[in-house]
Amino acid sequence: MNILILGSGGREHSLAWAVMQNPKCDKLIVAPGNAGIAEIADCASLDIEDGGAVVGFAEENAIDFVIVGPEAPLAAGVSDRLRDAGISVFGPSGAAARLEASKAFTKQICDAAGAPTAAYGHFTDADAAKAYVTAQGAPIVIKADGLAAGKGVIIAETEALALAAVDDMFSGAFGDAGAEVVIEEFMTGEEASFFVLCDGETVLPIGTAQDHKRVGEGDTGPNTGGMGAYSPAPVMTEAVTRKALDEIVRPTMAEMVRQGTPYQGVLFVGLMIQDGQPRLVEYNVRFGDPECQVLMMRLGAQVLDLLQACAEGRLAEAQVNWAADHAMTVVLAANGYPGSYEKGSAIHGLEDVPEDSSHMVFHAGTGRAAGKFTAQGGRVLAVTARAGTLQDARDTAYQMVDQIDWPEGFCRRDIGWRALQSD
Ligand code: AMP
Ligand code: GLY
Repeated sequence: MNILILGSGGREHSLAWAVMQNPKCDKLIVAPGNAGIAEIADCASLDIEDGGAVVGFAEENAIDFVIVGPEAPLAAGVSDRLRDAGISVFGPSGAAARLEASKAFTKQICDAAGAPTAAYGHFTDADAAKAYVTAQGAPIVIKADGLAAGKGVIIAETEALALAAVDDMFSGAFGDAGAEVVIEEFMTGEEASFFVLCDGETVLPIGTAQDHKRVGEGDTGPNTGGMGAYSPAPVMTEAVTRKALDEIVRPTMAEMVRQGTPYQGVLFVGLMIQDGQPRLVEYNVRFGDPECQVLMMRLGAQVLDLLQACAEGRLAEAQVNWAADHAMTVVLAANGYPGSYEKGSAIHGLEDVPEDSSHMVFHAGTGRAAGKFTAQGGRVLAVTARAGTLQDARDTAYQMVDQIDWPEGFCRRDIGWRALQSD
């Protein structure tokens, strides 16, 4: 089978790594990919948000199956174009991708499905939004409705900050994404990410994870795309998982079918859990990054069979083979991230780090110059290990980190602290 993966980050490197291990994979192309991905697959430059270009590329290269990594091509309807052309694709339709692309849409679906989530208001003008803030008080959460690359959420500790955030959004700080604003109750509890596959009918859980969004140790400082993650998430007990499925995920999927936009793909369910009760924070219509890296390390080659079963509506007969293992990934980012940072520094020592079914350095933002890997992004590497316990996975991941010589980069040294503290 010839497979095309769309995307260029650590998520796509880990997807490629897992898919390659499956004997069904004859040829793998990742577009556009990165220097680490180029070590294991062909990379091709392609405008992945242009449905026509993606269909043309898939046809030219006799692609049998496309896996869409990031949200932007999904929201742009690239899966629809591929399906229309008769090409099998893993990823929701543009209409179903609104579960990530519009926060107001998701809140309306939750209302219709009776799924527990934060109370909210949805606004298209600043005066009404400000009146709502004043009536509710702080802390309160202000969200740009549309896709804002993870930056469109402001947790306002005071009413003044909330009012300023409303002004910012309506004056275009987040472009079109902020033309509509959702204002939410601030929820407390512990966050976890729950990943399920859905083929329109059947929901199949494939794993849980927790990530660390803040740049600083102890979960302090500005938000990032994610500085590390581990799987499974201890807070996702069997009882919490059952409630999340019964009260949130299945009713949402049923409501999507009822509205004529069935959901096919992976659903990333962001939850806030307090006193054993999960509430929905957000949906994403793709794997998380770096959560995907720990899920792929744990699932391995079976991922291709699962994604194909999902794309072909055969999830009812699919099965996930779980091991009682743990995985952790530690992100190495360029000094300065998530603010401004330099590109182009050389990364040494990567050749000494073991790479096998329990150890992988997934590349998020690298290039190659003069035979050396160079840093080409904010998040650059995701150093990932798997072991029988979370502590062992963590020790191994940090040993791998310490073999990498890259003074222009940094990592958090406390990934997994919450889970390890509660052991
Ligand atoms: P989102 O982009 O919706 O995932 O929001 C980013 C982060 O903001 C989440 O992972 C939470 O940590 C936080 N967050 C979002 N909405 C809320 C809420 N209603 N209450 C508390 N925290 C929230
Ligand atoms: N790590 C969070 C995300 O992928 O959205």
